[in-house]
Amino acid sequence: MKKIKLKKILSKLNLLSFIEFINFQGQKWKNRKSNKEFKKNNPKVKLPPDFYLYETFNLNYEKFFTNGKPTATWLVNHMIEFKDFKNLSILDWGCGTGRVLRHLPAIINSSNSFYGTDYNKKYIKWCSENLEGIQFKNNFLKPPLDFKDNSMDIIYGISIFTHLSEKMHFSWTNELTRVLKNDGILFLTTHGDAHRFKLLQKEQVLYDHGNLVVHGYRKEGNRLYASYQSPKFMRTLCSRNNLEVLKHTPGETVNGKPQQDIWVLKITKN
Ligand SMILES: C[S@@+](CC[C@H](N)C(=O)[O-])C[C@H]1O[C@@H](n2cnc3c(N)ncnc32)[C@H](O)[C@@H]1O
Repeated sequence: MKKIKLKKILSKLNLLSFIEFINFQGQKWKNRKSNKEFKKNNPKVKLPPDFYLYETFNLNYEKFFTNGKPTATWLVNHMIEFKDFKNLSILDWGCGTGRVLRHLPAIINSSNSFYGTDYNKKYIKWCSENLEGIQFKNNFLKPPLDFKDNSMDIIYGISIFTHLSEKMHFSWTNELTRVLKNDGILFLTTHGDAHRFKLLQKEQVLYDHGNLVVHGYRKEGNRLYASYQSPKFMRTLCSRNNLEVLKHTPGETVNGKPQQDIWVLKITKN
């Protein structure tokens, strides 16, 4: 049975919260030794509460911390040919617990300004209290952001659209382009072709025709609300918002795990 069918049944039986709890405890148990070791060897590293890590990434301290830094470098490398990383305002939209953003001030020039926003108040509270040199703000599930028009040079959203409905794709793209300066860069990751196998056959047809496919087992924005964006869908989204596709890198499957597609987009406002 495809995973999606099982999830549908569990969702109907209201068993998903229970399964989530079991998964969380399972990850906690599986990582207990390495997490203990990491804490012992890195007493100064600030770690978010376990459940926040589980919800946004993976309950493995080593992976959370040591994977966040190369991801921040990877992010910068994807955009460095389009922007000189000096005196820029950079926003992490859907920053979660700051896994990537916390590393940026150390990686790029200190003349840049860093901002993080998320609709989950708990994450923003934790980030504000624990991560220095970055300004954090809350937003709601729906736009707007608490930033002025034309105020950001770069906005990135790592695995955010992957948890939103079609309506929200259009309203957020519109909002993110409002906040971006002319020639600003939007970096997004999506569930592209590498994730297509997770869809039922009839959903694959819709996906191929450029429709967004949603598996909404939980409320929108939650990790169990998953949406799938074909390149065709993304290109329509971009063209309707005057976004030029500078780069599209389809996700590969690495060690059996499908990676997300990367989109580097530019807004031209004049
Ligand atoms: C899979 S996590 C990724 C977190 C972070 N970007 C990272 O790479 O570690 C998805 C994040 O998107 C946030 N999110 C979902 N919908 C959002 C929205 N409408 N606005 C802002 N953040 C949102 C969630 O709270 C969560 O932190």
